[in-house]
Amino acid sequence: MSEIFDRLGEGAGEPVSAAELVAQAGISAGSPGPGSKRPRIVAAMIASADGRAAVEGRAAGLGGPPDRAVFRELRCSVDALLIGPTTLIEEQYSTVLDGDHRQRRAAAGLPESPIAVCISRRLDPRIEQLEIFAQAGQRIVIYTESQEPIEARGAELTVTRSAPGTTTLAACVEDLRLNHGVGTLLSEGGPTQLHALTEAGLVDDYIFTLSPLLVAGTAPSVLGGEVFDPPVKLDLRAVWRSGGFLFLHYTPLD
Ligand SMILES: NC(=O)c1ccc[n+]([C@@H]2O[C@H](COP(=O)([O-])OP(=O)(O)OC[C@H]3O[C@@H](n4cnc5c(N)ncnc54)[C@H](OP(=O)(O)O)[C@@H]3O)[C@@H](O)[C@H]2O)c1
Repeated sequence: MSEIFDRLGEGAGEPVSAAELVAQAGISAGSPGPGSKRPRIVAAMIASADGRAAVEGRAAGLGGPPDRAVFRELRCSVDALLIGPTTLIEEQYSTVLDGDHRQRRAAAGLPESPIAVCISRRLDPRIEQLEIFAQAGQRIVIYTESQEPIEARGAELTVTRSAPGTTTLAACVEDLRLNHGVGTLLSEGGPTQLHALTEAGLVDDYIFTLSPLLVAGTAPSVLGGEVFDPPVKLDLRAVWRSGGFLFLHYTPLD
């Protein structure tokens, strides 16, 4: 069943599909704008109504059909996915998009699957056991300070190594723009990586989904790390609702 989303408040109109929601947010693969040295970075995260970003260590317990529909459309609409190393392992990454979405990308002249990117200074060796490394044609780009060998089992793997203590998120995303043609990058979390990206001023759009659940406990919020002082101010650009889920599009102010 295709999910339908009602836009609330300013800009409200006819209900839209997940693809139209992503289009209304102005997110598409390709150029980040003239003169930009780095990709446009869109961060997508889901939280419970009480602000938790995981249930039993995974985000999947927070989701539902509307959230999965938006997430698939976001993946379908970008050049690359930035996945935190802990998230990559905890969420057991495998196939990035289903056949329909791969075909839609191909019809639009895009590679069938966005590049999967991971920035990890230490690089947990369990990473290469993940199913995504066995996906034929899946491009994977890793930035690391580890000198340990890492191999793909079918995916097209590029590993960029740097000296200990020299990796920065800014340099990695600039390299994605320059050497991998990435115009729009979807940050899929987790909370530690999103905090670091925000702190470095690298996030252009936040798509936060609020799930109709109360979780409590000690799971982090969608941003994990030191307090921002002063807090980062956001502009609320749009709100959609579907099946009890809220979808909030923010951009940083300034
Ligand atoms: N609710 C959601 O939407 C959502 C989305 C994704 C994940 N999650 C959940 O979040 C949890 C995993 O998130 P996490 O926060 O533990 O880990 P994470 O954000 O996936 O990865 C954290 C790692 O990023 C690496 N990193 C690279 N550059 C960094 C920098 N400049 N600053 C800080 N870290 C940097 C570090 O590893 P190195 O030391 O190797 O560099 C760090 O340990 C899981 O439970 C997952 O299910 C929830």
